[in-house]
Amino acid sequence: EAHYSEDLPLKGRKIVITAGPTYEAIDPVRFIGNHSSGKMGFEIATAAMQLGAEVVLISGPTHLSIDENKLRLIRVISTRDMYEAAHANFEDADIFIAAAAVADYKPKTVANQKIKKNDDSLTLELTKTEDILASLGKVKKNQKLIGFALETNNEVENARKKLKKKNLDFIVLNSLNDKGAGFQGDTNKISVIYPNLKKDFELKSKKEVAGDILNEIVNLLNA
Ligand code: CTP
Ligand code: CA
Repeated sequence: EAHYSEDLPLKGRKIVITAGPTYEAIDPVRFIGNHSSGKMGFEIATAAMQLGAEVVLISGPTHLSIDENKLRLIRVISTRDMYEAAHANFEDADIFIAAAAVADYKPKTVANQKIKKNDDSLTLELTKTEDILASLGKVKKNQKLIGFALETNNEVENARKKLKKKNLDFIVLNSLNDKGAGFQGDTNKISVIYPNLKKDFELKSKKEVAGDILNEIVNLLNA
């Protein structure tokens, strides 16, 4: 099907996406991280670009690459860095999608030197990181703000709590109970949860899931 650029549904819209994990340093050679691949966020960025949006992709450490001629890629490592890049790009954004798997805790202090193994046990004291999405929810004006939720139990109830607490327009629930869904693979099975509505989608490729999510956003913008 031929599309003229005037017809692209996200033309003239700025969309900011977070992707991948964040790493929190323990000492100069070690960190706390997670297995997020970044695929979901990168697929959303690619799909948004194809729909005509101006895209800023803020990514934690991942092996993925993307055509940087057509979007702005900001690579970050820590939650603090992702927080700063997110806020720096939020005010003039139309849409913000938090697909990153952000570390919830970080070491209270970072050792300047490599920690040596001395005793039989080692205790690290951790402190909460900034909640990037919740902090954006507090300053949001007309931006559409979308989050993800990864739950293993009371999924819908927990996801709705996050939707309200973080002041989101909708939340994308990823169930770890579904085979083929989640963190590392190429497929995902999602539900899109609004305050009074839940839409369940089939298991499909992350590329197709990205299309479904952006379709929900286009509908919101046109509503
Ligand atoms: N998120 C964020 N900053 C954090 C933690 C989470 O921006 N420090 C975002 C994630 O990118 C995701 C949403 O918040 O879009 C929900 O993340 P999730 O880990 O499911 O929820 P939490 O609020 O961290 O709660 P918990 O891990 O205890 O379930
Ligand atoms: Ca979390």
